[in-house]
Amino acid sequence: MTTHTFPDVPADQMPALLRGMPKAELHIHIEGSLEPELIFALAQRNGVSLPYASVEDLRRAYAFTNLQTFLDIYYAGASVLLKEQDFYDMAWAYLERAAADHVVRTEMFFDPQTHTERGVAMQTVIDGLHRACVDAKARLGIDAELILCFLRHLSEEDAFATLEQALPFRDKFIGVGLDSSEVGHPPEKFARVFARCRELGLHLVAHAGEEGPPAYVWSALDVLKVERIDHGVQSTKDPALMKRLAQDRIPLTVCPLSNLKLCVFPDLAQHNLRDLLDAGLVATVNSDDPAYFGGYMNENFVQTFAATGLTVQHAWQLAANSFEGSFADAAAKRRYMDQLGDYFSRVGVR
Ligand code: HPA
Ligand code: ZN
Repeated sequence: MTTHTFPDVPADQMPALLRGMPKAELHIHIEGSLEPELIFALAQRNGVSLPYASVEDLRRAYAFTNLQTFLDIYYAGASVLLKEQDFYDMAWAYLERAAADHVVRTEMFFDPQTHTERGVAMQTVIDGLHRACVDAKARLGIDAELILCFLRHLSEEDAFATLEQALPFRDKFIGVGLDSSEVGHPPEKFARVFARCRELGLHLVAHAGEEGPPAYVWSALDVLKVERIDHGVQSTKDPALMKRLAQDRIPLTVCPLSNLKLCVFPDLAQHNLRDLLDAGLVATVNSDDPAYFGGYMNENFVQTFAATGLTVQHAWQLAANSFEGSFADAAAKRRYMDQLGDYFSRVGVR
């Protein structure tokens, strides 16, 4: 991929440049896009009772101290999803927000076990989400794909059963991932199910190095053989790992506002995104669970750039990385890169 050198842009013009920039989102849990207002609307529609009196009461509970304190509330929020239309409405709301942020491609995670263990059929989940992806292409012009995530706090046997249930809908998702409580659940716990998914030709990704150690990033790469690492911010603690990630051009799907809200970094100014980029890693910016962490894609870009003083050069690199790191085919990647080049010419920084 070609690189460019850009003139500096005044700091007060960076937010507009970032907001209008075409970009791909590679790390979004669709259940994490469920806004409190929609949680309450779906609870009412489905006759589900919530342990919160109001939208404001629920929002007040969003004071997290680590990953687990978030996950407990995130799984409770997802309990209002029962019907195919619920999954459609959730995904559609996110896709409209993403399109407004100039996201041209998104690869959305979903957590089927959160739903199937409540008696919701796999087909209900996948059909609703996939229908929204199809409509998004036609009505919003955004390319949207699905990645099925296994919950790592559950067993590998459960993951195998989930894969079996999903295989009749194999044409509706492009890959598998690994999420939920990281520490104590290393990637190697899922070695066999990932090997099976690899045989099936599915793309492979895994959360690693969010709260967990660099060793988990190593085993995601060497045991699970993933193509991307989700988060991966703990990698800076291991110089040999940094070298490996740079040499193999393994994308890291970094989520700055998530890291801030889950206390992975004490403040955004201390986030290590700049170190990752300056070390030549294929780092990207993503929203993770935007309804819970206070911002969709553009908020992540604007707040992170303001706090860390990243430059227009970094902006171009992050967008280019998001396209390179995506699972789009070569022709689509070229199209996205052309859009990026046109944008930078149009805003006069090329
Ligand atoms: N980490 C792990 N599991 C998750 C996350 C996350 O950031 N968001 C939703 N499930
Ligand atoms: Zn995540």
